[in-house]
This record gives sequence, structure tokens and C-alpha cells, in this order.
Amino acid sequence: MAEIIFRKMTLADVDAVAELDKENFGVDAWSRQFFAYAAKNPHAKYIVAEFEKKIIACAGLEIYEGEADISTVAVTEKFRRRGIAQKMFAKLIRTAKKRGAKFIFAEVRTDNLPSMRLCEKFGFMIIGREKNYYANGEDAFVMGLKI
Ligand SMILES: CC(C)(COP(=O)(O)OP(=O)(O)OC[C@H]1O[C@@H](n2cnc3c(N)ncnc32)[C@H](O)[C@@H]1OP(=O)(O)O)[C@@H](O)C(=O)NCCC(=O)NCCS
Repeated sequence: MAEIIFRKMTLADVDAVAELDKENFGVDAWSRQFFAYAAKNPHAKYIVAEFEKKIIACAGLEIYEGEADISTVAVTEKFRRRGIAQKMFAKLIRTAKKRGAKFIFAEVRTDNLPSMRLCEKFGFMIIGREKNYYANGEDAFVMGLKI
């Protein structure tokens, strides 16, 4: 049986990843250009999960001056609740630590319970609120973790 493979995002993945982000975040999704830059950015770490050669999940962060910010995490609906996001989070946190980050942040829509629970599972706490963070004017919780 085919396995789920976790690996670094490459430039060849960018179209599929941008598509996945669009499916999950609509107008708030990152652009193809954003992911193309992220694939080469030495301050970033982006991971994809692949099943039967198809991208089914992506998560990534940027690290600057000791602070890491998770910019996206999305798992195709069919593959949710199998621990994929959790695995990717664990990998990202490990990378952030290795690269000297002391804090990790994640912005989460205030009604996004799955995402909040995922962050809480790793010890993130709500440390602030960003007003009008999303295109439709909704706020985001800023969740933070000391690592
Ligand atoms: C949030 C998301 C990435 C979770 O992905 P996933 O692979 O299904 O998550 P996992 O299976 O690794 O779950 C890890 C933990 O997250 C939490 N969680 C995940 N889905 C949940 C749900 N529907 N309800 C409540 N908690 C949930 C649980 O704490 C879970 O641990 P448990 O299974 O031991 O209870 C996924 O639902 C998704 O892609 N959502 C749409 C995009 C999105 O909102 N991204 C987050 C933006 S910040």
C-alpha cells in the first residue's frame, strides 16, 4: 500500500501547494509567487506531504531573528484527522529550534477550532489578537510558543 511521504517543498511543488492553499484559505491564500520564494528562502522551512505522487498537505514557517512564524498549514479534507498536521508541526518546531528560534507564532482565525486545538496540543497559547487580519475583516488570534 502507498505511504504518505513527508519531504521538503521544492519549486516543482509550488503549483500544487498554491492550489491546496487556495482550496483551504480562498482569498486569504498565499500566492504561487509566495511559495516559489519560500521554496528558496534560506530563512524558511516548508514541508509537503505526498500520497501517490500527489500533494495532500503543506506547512511552513519563516525564521528571523530568533522568532519563527508559521505561515500556513493545510491538509486535504480526505486526509484529515490522521495526524498529518501534527507530524508537520513537530518537524517545523524541531527545525525552528535547531535554527536558534526562541519563539514560534501562529495566527489562527478566531473560529478555527481544529487549528487552535492543534496549536494547543504543542503548548501554544493565545497571546494576542490581530484586528482585521483576514480579507473579510475577521480577527486572528496570535498563538505563541516558547521553545
Ligand atoms: C487544521 C488542520 C491543518 C488539521 O490537520 P489534521 O491533519 O487533520 O490534524 P491532525 O490529524 O494532525 O490533528 C492533530 C490535532 O489537531 C486537533 N484537531 C485536528 N482536527 C480537529 C478537529 N476537526 N476538531 C478538533 N480538533 C482537531 C486535535 O487536537 C488533534 O489531535 P487528536 O487527533 O489527538 O485529537 C486541517 O483541519 C486543515 O487543513 N484545516 C483547513 C486549513 C486550516 O484551517 N489551517 C490552519 C490555519 S492556521
